[in-house]
Amino acid sequence: MLKCLLLTAMAAILAVSMSFADQSNGKVTIPVDKTTPTDGKQMFSSYCAPCHGRTGEGQGMIALRGFPPPPSFHQPRLREAPAGHFYEVITNGWGLMYPYAARVEPADRWAIIAYIRALQLSANARLADADPAERARLEALPE
Ligand code: HEC
Repeated sequence: MLKCLLLTAMAAILAVSMSFADQSNGKVTIPVDKTTPTDGKQMFSSYCAPCHGRTGEGQGMIALRGFPPPPSFHQPRLREAPAGHFYEVITNGWGLMYPYAARVEPADRWAIIAYIRALQLSANARLADADPAERARLEALPE
């Protein structure tokens, strides 16, 4: 009985968050470049890493303990998803993930997204992307 009620409540929450997502149609246009990924790192560690893992691969402690694992942020679909999609997910939740609108301020959501972008870049960076000094240092490292 309790399980049944919980499921109904969850379904209602899901329906509400889906309709919000539909209404705004993913068109979130606040620029991300105004926030620093450094601020986002702290918040990502507190609010997202427990499930998504510190590197965003989806292997956080909660996922390792049996909560359904989230998708990796490094898969092509999420690398190509616009920043507004991440904003929607944080604000309204996504599938099994709860909304974080009540806990994470809009400006902080953008800081978290900037940090996720940094994680995505760092997981796919090529040596050619590094600035010349850093590149020389990396090339001089023993194999
Ligand atoms: C309690 C665990 C948990 C926490 C904490 C959490 N997530 Fe998630 N997240 C999930 C799960 C599980 C999914 C997959 C949900 C599904 O597909 O049903 C998900 C999915 C996502 C997705 C992918 C949406 C897509 O298009 O597939 C993004 C982006 C995301 N989360 C961002 C975040 C951010 C940013 C934070 C921190 C503010 C966060 N999540 C916190 C569990 C969590």
